[in-house]
Amino acid sequence: MSFLQQTISNLASLRILNTYIQINLLDMKRLLIIPFFIFTLQVYAQTQTLITNVLGRQTFSLNGKWNYIIDPYETGYYDYRYKPFDASPKPSGGFFLDRHQTDKSELLEYDFNQSPTLIVPRDWNSQDDKLFYYEGTIWYRRLFQYSKNNPDNRVFVHFGAANYETDVYLNGKKLGKHIGGFTPFAYEITSILKEGDNSLVVKVDDKRKREAVPTLNTDWWNYGGITRDVNVVEVPSTFISDYFIQLKKSSKNLIAGYVKVNGVKKSQKVKIEIPELKSTSEFTTNDSGYVKIEIPLKKLDLWSPSNPKLYQVNISSETDKVVEKIGFRTIETKGSDILLNGQSIFLRGICIHEENAIRGGRAYSLEDSRMLLGWAKELNCNYVRLAHYPHNEYMARLADEMGILVWEENPVYWTILWDNKETFDNAQTQLTDLITRDKNRASVIIWSMANETPVSEARTNFLKNLAATARSLDDTRLISAAMETHTNPGKPLTKIVEDPFAPYVDIVNFNQYVGWYDGLPEKCDQITWEIKYDKPVMISEFGGGCVQGLHGDAQTRWTEEFQEDLYKRTLNMLSKIPQFRGVTPWILCDFRSPKRLLPNVQDGWNRKGVIGENGTKKKAFFVLKNFYNQMEEKYSLKEKKK
Ligand code: GCU
Repeated sequence: MSFLQQTISNLASLRILNTYIQINLLDMKRLLIIPFFIFTLQVYAQTQTLITNVLGRQTFSLNGKWNYIIDPYETGYYDYRYKPFDASPKPSGGFFLDRHQTDKSELLEYDFNQSPTLIVPRDWNSQDDKLFYYEGTIWYRRLFQYSKNNPDNRVFVHFGAANYETDVYLNGKKLGKHIGGFTPFAYEITSILKEGDNSLVVKVDDKRKREAVPTLNTDWWNYGGITRDVNVVEVPSTFISDYFIQLKKSSKNLIAGYVKVNGVKKSQKVKIEIPELKSTSEFTTNDSGYVKIEIPLKKLDLWSPSNPKLYQVNISSETDKVVEKIGFRTIETKGSDILLNGQSIFLRGICIHEENAIRGGRAYSLEDSRMLLGWAKELNCNYVRLAHYPHNEYMARLADEMGILVWEENPVYWTILWDNKETFDNAQTQLTDLITRDKNRASVIIWSMANETPVSEARTNFLKNLAATARSLDDTRLISAAMETHTNPGKPLTKIVEDPFAPYVDIVNFNQYVGWYDGLPEKCDQITWEIKYDKPVMISEFGGGCVQGLHGDAQTRWTEEFQEDLYKRTLNMLSKIPQFRGVTPWILCDFRSPKRLLPNVQDGWNRKGVIGENGTKKKAFFVLKNFYNQMEEKYSLKEKKK
């Protein structure tokens, strides 16, 4: 791993990327006139700690009912002069203190004990009609008791995700602030835990912001809240915090990666065992707790959709042991072919939003993942695009088991603030967290940098730098993005794919909506595509809306027959592209969007699913399934002829 890789990786693991030095600017002015010694640098380092494979650790779940307070004016966070309570070393107020009236004369204007409850994990929008459209701050409070299993151990609180900006406090002490709605974060609580009730208070603010990632405008519901699992995690005083164990790029028998330990005993022996292969390798971490690993293997059974082979891998140090199921495969491109374990494949995919339309709200559980990936399997998919942000950790883990290849995506969506450094840092951190979390998943083959971003010099530099970050963290997987297409004046039926970001990706991929936003379905029959790249070409979105159960002729928009005809004509058009190696139609299931307002048709739903919000399949579902059956046959015949 290069210095840059190790630096970014160390920053990622220590999460000092998120260290905030908050200097009270007011004090800075006073500083100029008041002697230096009065100056108080109000520093509370809010460092997040990376813990890989939380599911494989000793955990105590905090899922369940949490008290909550709706706080649209952030009364619990700012004093009446709009100064954050938690910026003071001895806060005089703030909901995070979780105070209760002890004296009948005491003035207190909040009380978690008397407040209602929300279920965690779940977005708040789908739990209460009052919160359906709410965007703002909600405070959560969970009381819990915890006694360490071993007095020498360390304890963390770990969040699978919370959307969007989260401040975490334990027993009145600030643990940290996390920005980003779809990536995990954890804080050490070893020295703050107490006997008896511990008060965990979490402020979640999901207001959309111009400088955020994503920015103000998205075509999906802004589900707010603690949307994924929350666990107390107990680990040894020096524990295995991170590891990367995958086949070296283009090798079928050499595992490469690293192991990192976190704690005082940084330099120690680590062992990696794969019992089924009778493989045991030993290494020693250096003084920063890091060691690069290489493990030669014989007779490795490679992972693939038809053979989702996972090995038990035991990673142990002198003080810790973690077990994980890991698959090994190679993924690369050669000219316009995508090669999985050296064999050319066609990616038979579908786009998926992280939503359980039947129950309502954000998907978050293993059961939700089983429903969504089960539908993909029924389509005869060997691949899914998890749009437009990192999905919960169960998705890639279940895809490993089910044999489904995965595209994971950073929420750099549409009109991001390209020339704002904080926005880039935010996007880089979210991408780093996604790669850090899922880099050991055989199913994950593509990291997507962005979706449908308007071409400009600032945008392309932004994406180039993200791609460089991704490759520095993981050079084994492919890089792509949903790029732009255009036509030249006078030739409206010739669609051109020529994006300045294309030279930096492994797969040329774009969204196109001929027949829905651009003409009617029969226009597909007249289109030719001009794509001059000797790279695999994939289409990450096409489709059109229809109401499940609404029938009519193929010329009537919003009928199943219109969508069915659009699918037939689009697949026929795309199949003429010589480099065509994969497609993920938009989208598996109807999903909620505040942008979709047509009464009695959309009613706040984007209707482009091939499955309706009630879980019923539409006619287009079967057009796509049939096409995938044909592509599977075509590629298996291709392999037999070799
Ligand atoms: C865009 C975008 C999607 C959106 C879709 C649509 O391509 O990437 O997020 O939902 O089109 O218009 O339905």
